[in-house]
Amino acid sequence: HVFKLEEYRPSAYHILEADLTFRLDPNATQVIATLTVERVPDADSSVPLVLDGDGLALKRIAIDGEELSSNAYDATPDQLTLAKLPAARRFELLLETVLSPDDNTALMGLYRSSGVYCTQCEAEGFRRITYFLDRPDNLCVFTVRIEAAREYAPVLLSNGNPVESGDLGGGRHYAVWHDPFPKPSYLFALVAGDLGKITDEFVTMSGRSVALGIYVEHGKEARAAYAMDALKRSMKWDEVTFGREYDLDVFNIVAVSDFNMGAMENKGLNIFNDKYVLADQETATDADFANIEAVIAHEYFHNWTGNRITCRDWFQLCLKEGLTVYRDHEFSADQRSRAVKRIAEVRTLRAQQFPEDQGPLAHPVRPRRYREINNFYTATVYEKGSEVVRMIRTILGAEAFRAGMDLYFERHDGQAVTIEDFLKVFEDASGRDLAQFALWYHQAGTPSITARTAYHPAAKEFVLDIEQSVPPTPSENRKRLTHIPLAFGLVGKDGRDIVPGAIEGAAVENGVIHVRKRRHTIRFSGMAERPVLSLNRGFSAPITLSLQQKADDRFFLAAKDSDAFSRWQAFNGLLTDALVAAFRQTLGGKKVQFSTRLLALAGAIAADESLEPAYRALALSLPGEADIAREIGKAIDPDAIFAGREALVGAIANANKALFGDLYASFADNGPFSPDAASAGQRALRNVLLDYLATQPEGAALASSHFDAATNMTDRAAALATLVHRHTASPEASEALAAFEARFRAAPLAMDKWFQIQATTPGSQSVDTVRALIAHPAFSMTNPNRLRALIGTFANANQTGFNRADGEGYRLFADIVTRTDRNNPQLAARLATALRSWRSLEPGRQMKAREALVSIANAGNLSTDLRDIVERTLA
Ligand code: ARG
Ligand code: ZN
Repeated sequence: HVFKLEEYRPSAYHILEADLTFRLDPNATQVIATLTVERVPDADSSVPLVLDGDGLALKRIAIDGEELSSNAYDATPDQLTLAKLPAARRFELLLETVLSPDDNTALMGLYRSSGVYCTQCEAEGFRRITYFLDRPDNLCVFTVRIEAAREYAPVLLSNGNPVESGDLGGGRHYAVWHDPFPKPSYLFALVAGDLGKITDEFVTMSGRSVALGIYVEHGKEARAAYAMDALKRSMKWDEVTFGREYDLDVFNIVAVSDFNMGAMENKGLNIFNDKYVLADQETATDADFANIEAVIAHEYFHNWTGNRITCRDWFQLCLKEGLTVYRDHEFSADQRSRAVKRIAEVRTLRAQQFPEDQGPLAHPVRPRRYREINNFYTATVYEKGSEVVRMIRTILGAEAFRAGMDLYFERHDGQAVTIEDFLKVFEDASGRDLAQFALWYHQAGTPSITARTAYHPAAKEFVLDIEQSVPPTPSENRKRLTHIPLAFGLVGKDGRDIVPGAIEGAAVENGVIHVRKRRHTIRFSGMAERPVLSLNRGFSAPITLSLQQKADDRFFLAAKDSDAFSRWQAFNGLLTDALVAAFRQTLGGKKVQFSTRLLALAGAIAADESLEPAYRALALSLPGEADIAREIGKAIDPDAIFAGREALVGAIANANKALFGDLYASFADNGPFSPDAASAGQRALRNVLLDYLATQPEGAALASSHFDAATNMTDRAAALATLVHRHTASPEASEALAAFEARFRAAPLAMDKWFQIQATTPGSQSVDTVRALIAHPAFSMTNPNRLRALIGTFANANQTGFNRADGEGYRLFADIVTRTDRNNPQLAARLATALRSWRSLEPGRQMKAREALVSIANAGNLSTDLRDIVERTLA
């Protein structure tokens, strides 16, 4: 079945209140739902009530206290239809279902993870608990009573505020929770188990005290401290930045170890993948700390953007996700370094969203069709969705943007709304027309801008020619022209921006060119010197840019642009071009060569003390093999890309070895550990330098001593990766792998790094390595984090291993995906997206990748989730 946006209809019934009782049991949990149902005024009792279900078994059904006879309803596992209904508009429907949490391997609905009962209801998991109007426009007040054995489940949690709790005798107890805020069923949550807890308090801007709790496995409480700190900073930031105050008496977070996604924003009870809660210096890297901060903030920010104001239907997913990602990006930028954060965001966008937009799975930020909504929790909805909100701010300016957000909260609090409603508040607050801009939501594909410049000294005129186009995507051949805000600067010889005289040819406001037509010729007059154009500063628009610019100008921008992002971009563009050239030289059997100027610039950036260490580390991290492949576009031979990239790593290291050696020594780990951004930046730079130095003759010994001396996971994992990747199968690498394993055998999240590092070992042997690791006792075919660490990482981040020419990498992958589908369709479908760029491979690998996709498609009993991904990928 294909769901279509234009087929949205409001329901004839509304479930206003849900009183739920859960009698928890691993194999026979009883769920009694008492639902207050109301018919809309213009419908009569002949309109049947159709409730969603998914694999349910109905035990009892009554209306207004009367048990229903079997001809009054039709219950299948997936639907409950009631055709004979009371004449009164409002009635009470009682439903009893029975569930087996222990058999729920899909991790949707109610399941158990390491003995803890927990739920995941977004998008359509609630219908695995009871029959319901499981759609986000049904806002309902929930009261939840949980009963369980006290010994196994001393902690009983649900949404909202705690109301009462007590003993039931026979070793059982209960708790009642009430959430006064009407919410859709996807925000329902329940947790019950034996968990440790840390507590804190937050006093809101109006002086209300909120009790904060983070629940984790016993013994891991200390590792939740950073998450608690991030939570309090998030609550404060949302007050200061958006005027948003928290609204319940309690806010709880629970970390579970089996979770399909990152985390879930259930009202007042956020449930997290434990990797986004637990951190200390021994087990978590600096990147883990940064991710925890971002995800804690993201879920907390959903309380307003998602929960108080929710989505009318699932086509509007970006309404809450794009906006909330934008908010968490801004939060991290304020907490850390804005420039470094922006570069990292753009790297992620290009690595994850661009291939989606440019491949068979392309879809608009607001899709119009889906077969399985779980497959639309994508980089396009999240990351491009965030970029679209950022562009609204760029177009409106900070003040009008904030006024629009204020209006959004004021106008739509308590509602389930659409992207049109969202855009309207910004139009109303600013008086601007966003009709053309709205195409960013409706049209798939990455717009591209080509630009050329010319300087006419006699006329003191600088001319910029711009052309926009959007390449076709599946089922959308013809694209319309959109509104692209391009931030820019005209950089003078001294590095300062030149303020031009008159500008004609396009609207230009506050350093932003508003591209709205196919072509613009923009004339800047009064230009006494030839400027160097810095275009799409700060990545103001998520586009691909091809700017014809001389190498001199690009080297100049890489050294002088006042916009830190564009400065990074200029250097990164030079590196990318060099890597593409190296790929072609490798393929052509020629000697790979790099300009000494580029190699020297790498050294200059490494040593430039006016730049933050984190920025220098990012600049020196070469474009990845997939980035290079995207640039090349077609007939990809991953081995040649790898060889060219290795040549550049070696050339930069050779050209700068003394400098890198000194710098490496000057950043020696000293003093107590702190996860703050500045300390993390120093570690990042030192570890990047180590990776270059490891190409030198004493490299293995250096990395080995770095590993032995490490006092934190960031340094330990970096050294291990360098040893395993650069000195594969050396005695040093084997010893470090064994030492790491011995130390972290019982720490699953740390072992994930051990799996990841080995899964990314370059070369054809890694297929065998991965196959052997599947049998490792710390691996699990059913835990999502383990599967992603080993199989997901192998498929997405090991270009030479996964794309082994004989197809063995694809075959291994197809086998795991098919097996995973039997337990956990959502996870299988997510893994399968790793094959989305198969058509850009050279013909031999293309054929092998296609065979693997076909073998998945032909496996029996495919889930809707996996079938949808595989069929779209093959189409
Ligand atoms: N809303 C959650 C978040 O962004 C993600 C939930 C994903 N659920 C799913 N079924 N794919 O934080
Ligand atoms: Zn989200």
